[in-house]
Amino acid sequence: MTTVRVPLGERSYDVLIERGALARAGELLAPYATTGRLVIVTDGNVASAQLPKLLAALDGAGIAHAAIVLPPGEASKSWTSLEALTDRLLDLGVERGECLVALGGGVIGDLAGFAAAIVKRGCGFVQIPTTLLAQVDSAVGGKTAINSRAGKNLVGAFHQPRFVLIDPEVLDTLPPRELRAGYAEVVKYGLIDDADFFAWCEANGAALLAGDADSRVHAIAHSVAAKARIVGEDERETIGRRALLNLGHTFGHALEAETGFSDALLHGEAVAAGMALAFRFSARKGLCLAIDAERVAAHLRAARLPDGLAAAGVETAGPTLVAHMAHDKKIEGGRLPFLLARGIGETFLARDIDLAEVAAFLDDEAFAPAS
Ligand code: NAD
Ligand code: GLY
Repeated sequence: MTTVRVPLGERSYDVLIERGALARAGELLAPYATTGRLVIVTDGNVASAQLPKLLAALDGAGIAHAAIVLPPGEASKSWTSLEALTDRLLDLGVERGECLVALGGGVIGDLAGFAAAIVKRGCGFVQIPTTLLAQVDSAVGGKTAINSRAGKNLVGAFHQPRFVLIDPEVLDTLPPRELRAGYAEVVKYGLIDDADFFAWCEANGAALLAGDADSRVHAIAHSVAAKARIVGEDERETIGRRALLNLGHTFGHALEAETGFSDALLHGEAVAAGMALAFRFSARKGLCLAIDAERVAAHLRAARLPDGLAAAGVETAGPTLVAHMAHDKKIEGGRLPFLLARGIGETFLARDIDLAEVAAFLDDEAFAPAS
C-alpha cells in the first residue's frame, strides 16, 4: 500500500494506491459517509464492471448507498448531463456536508467533481478512478469541468476531492485501447522533468500494458507523487508549474477537435501524438536533439500509441489545426504558450511562438511521406 499526500493546506488529502482496495472501500470510505449514506456517480460500463464490488464493500460496512448511472463517453460532460445529475442529487436530498463518490474514468470524475463543486454551493467528493488515465492524472488535482459549444473543459471549477482511492486491479476490466491511452499520461511525467522515469517506461512499459501488477503499481504511485508535488506548488496553474502537465495537449487538442472529440481519437491518444509533435517541433527549432524526438516517438509507437498526425488519422492542413487552438484556455493576451522541450525530462513553457510557424510545421507533418 502507498499513500501520497496532496499538500494543499486545509484542503490537503491522501491518495491511497493499493491492489484490491475497492473491496476495502467500506472501511476506507466510512469517514466520508457523514450521513450514513454515500451517493455514487458512475457510468454504464463501470457500473457493470466495478460497481457491484463497491456496493458489496459498502454493504459490508453498513453504509447505505444510492447509485446514479450515466451513459459512458465524453458526451456526458455536457450541460444536459450536468443538469440531470444535479437534479437527481437534489432529489436525493444531498446535503452540503455529504461526500459524493465518483466511480469511473476522467469523464465521470470531471462531471461528478463539477456537480460537487456547485450543488448546495459545494459539497465534498471522493474519487475512485477506474481508468489508468484517471488514476495517474485526472482524479488528482481538483480540475473539474464539462464541455461547452465553444470547446472542451471550458466550464468548470477547481474543487479538490477529500480522498482518492486507487485500486490498480480495476484496470483488469478496462479495454486495452483505453489502457494504452492512459499510458500516454504516464509517459508524460517522464518527458516533463524526469528522464529516469522515461527510461523506466522504456524498460517496463510493455510489461505494464501486458498486465504486470508491480509495474502498474509503480507507475501509478510514481505518477501520482509527481502530480501531487506539482499541484501542491501551483494548484491553480498561475505560476507556470502546473502548466507543464499540459505537455502535448495543445497539439493534441487540435487533433481531438479535428476528429470531433469522438472515439476516433481518445484523449490519451491525442496527448501521445501531441507530445511527439511537441518534441519534433522543438527539434525543428533547434531546441532539442532530433534523436530525442525520435526516441519519444519510438516509445509511443512501441506502446501502440500514435506518434503524429498520420498515426492519429488526421490529414488536415496546418492552418486549420492551428485555428482549433484559438479556444485554448491557456491563451494569454491573444498569445498561446506552447510546451516545448530542450530534451527528455526538460519541458518548458515557451511564450513567444509564432502560430504561422506552428501551422507551417503541421503542414509539413501532414503532407510528409509516412515514416
Ligand atoms: P472515460 O472516463 O470516458 O473512460 C473511458 C472508457 O472506459 C469509458 O467507456 C468508460 O465507461 C470505460 N471504463 C472506465 N473504467 C473502466 C473499467 N475499470 N472497466 C471497464 N470499462 C471502464 O475516459 P478517460 O480517458 O478516463 O478520461 C478522459 C476525460 O478525462 C476527458 O474528458 C478529459 O478531458 C478528462 N481529463 C481530465 C483531467 C483533469 O485533470 N481533470 C486530466 C486529464 C483528462
Ligand atoms: N491534467 C492537467 C492538470 O491536472 O493540470
